[in-house]
Amino acid sequence: MAEQQPAITLEKVCKSFGPNRVLHEVSLTLPAGKIMVMLGPSGTGKSVLLRCLVGLMKPDSGRIFIEGQDITGLDERRSAGREQMFALRRKFGMLFQDGALFDDMCVGDNVAFPLRQHAKLSEREIAARVAEDLERVGLKNAQRKMPAELSGGMRKRVAFARAIALRPKIVLCDEPSSGLDPVMSATLDELILDLHRTLGMTFVVISHDTAEARKIADYVGLLYKGELQAFGLKDEVLRSNQRAINQFFERSTEGPIQVL
Ligand SMILES: Nc1ncnc2c1ncn2[C@@H]1O[C@H](COP(=O)(O)OP(=O)(O)OP(=O)(O)O)[C@@H](O)[C@H]1O
Ligand SMILES: [Mg+2]
Repeated sequence: MAEQQPAITLEKVCKSFGPNRVLHEVSLTLPAGKIMVMLGPSGTGKSVLLRCLVGLMKPDSGRIFIEGQDITGLDERRSAGREQMFALRRKFGMLFQDGALFDDMCVGDNVAFPLRQHAKLSEREIAARVAEDLERVGLKNAQRKMPAELSGGMRKRVAFARAIALRPKIVLCDEPSSGLDPVMSATLDELILDLHRTLGMTFVVISHDTAEARKIADYVGLLYKGELQAFGLKDEVLRSNQRAINQFFERSTEGPIQVL
């Protein structure tokens, strides 16, 4: 049997905005069906990295492979490129850092949106999936509410339900637990583990929370000033005694990561 392609491979990915060097030669390989938690202080390029993965931003140099396909050169201005980009997006579910709900749609329609766009399902099937996923995230009764009526944590959970609605192969979550209370954040972690176990989804989870990394990660990365300071299997990274990792996991101000 042919070996399964890694879900994600990055080769020396660089991205700058003018003089602001945001990603510098980031390379990693995440096998399919694994959970990676990417840690890192604020402003170090974590969200930019996720945007590059789904083709919302293009790296200046380096290459990105999704399930073995080089997506770096996809050009949406050409029709072949548009089709490939559409197929690429279909592989991903994305939970944006700010939730990015459609404010003029109720919760149910937000979750149904990717299903109506991409899946060949009847409205009855869509309704069943929406109800199932809202129940998963503990929002069974919120279906008719508008986003403006929700708390920040509820919006996050709706966004998570929307991200998994299509049962994508790869789910990218930008700080899913920020703004959630510890119990809800643990519930979301369990949900990620459950989807990973039952459906074999690959997850990239961005987080500041080392407890979350310890709990759910197979692979851990630490991004600092656009450089990947550490990446690998969680236990190996934790055992590696790298100063930046120790500093992050021990919540210390002493070490290579300087905030000010
Ligand atoms: N579209 C853009 N145009 C210009 N600069 C940008 C753009 N997007 C991000 N940046 C810059 O890239 C850097 C990294 O931003 P990014 O949002 O990836 O940080 P982050 O690690 O996700 O931080 P946080 O933990 O606070 O979310 C910042 O300096 C930011 O100002
Ligand atoms: Mg961010």
